[in-house]
Amino acid sequence: MIYPIVPYGDPVLRKVAKPIKLGSIDLIKLSEDMFETMYAASGVGLAAPQIGMDIRLFVVDGRPMNEDEDEEEKDPSLVNFKKVFVNATILDETGEEWGFEEGCLSIPGVRGEVFRPEYVKIHYWDEHGEEHEDVFEGFAARIIQHEYDHIEGILFTDHLNVVKKRMIKSKLGEISRGKVSVDYKMKLSR
Ligand code: NI
Repeated sequence: MIYPIVPYGDPVLRKVAKPIKLGSIDLIKLSEDMFETMYAASGVGLAAPQIGMDIRLFVVDGRPMNEDEDEEEKDPSLVNFKKVFVNATILDETGEEWGFEEGCLSIPGVRGEVFRPEYVKIHYWDEHGEEHEDVFEGFAARIIQHEYDHIEGILFTDHLNVVKKRMIKSKLGEISRGKVSVDYKMKLSR
């Protein structure tokens, strides 16, 4: 099932999402639906608030980012990087900060450079209820950091510098008024 994606301006994107009581919802079904929703929009990560649910769940699949790259350009962190993160807590972020032009399915047409630390250590459960503590790096870390922000009510645009923030202000206003043109389903109530 494909969910409509919630756009910038919807209050659910600004909530600190609630922990999930394990066993209370069908995480396998919900994460499958989130993957389907994400693939339909050509995304590499999707957090539950982006489909209107304020729960601590996000899915990632960074493998498509490697598909068009030459062998030596492929990011090793993205090999087999398809995962579900339930009740995640970032324990540590280390390494040098590096910049990358990020985008977000909830903020179509806007991109901007965000600086994030190279490594992330994270504790989480998967969709089968198994507990994990792992360190991720490179693009895998970045995708996790972006999605983790979503369950904390933070958007990538919050991290942009003042000049860039000013540049995208009117565009953000348009999106929150429902003025968007995308080739995937969005929840445009206004
Ligand atoms: Ni996003």
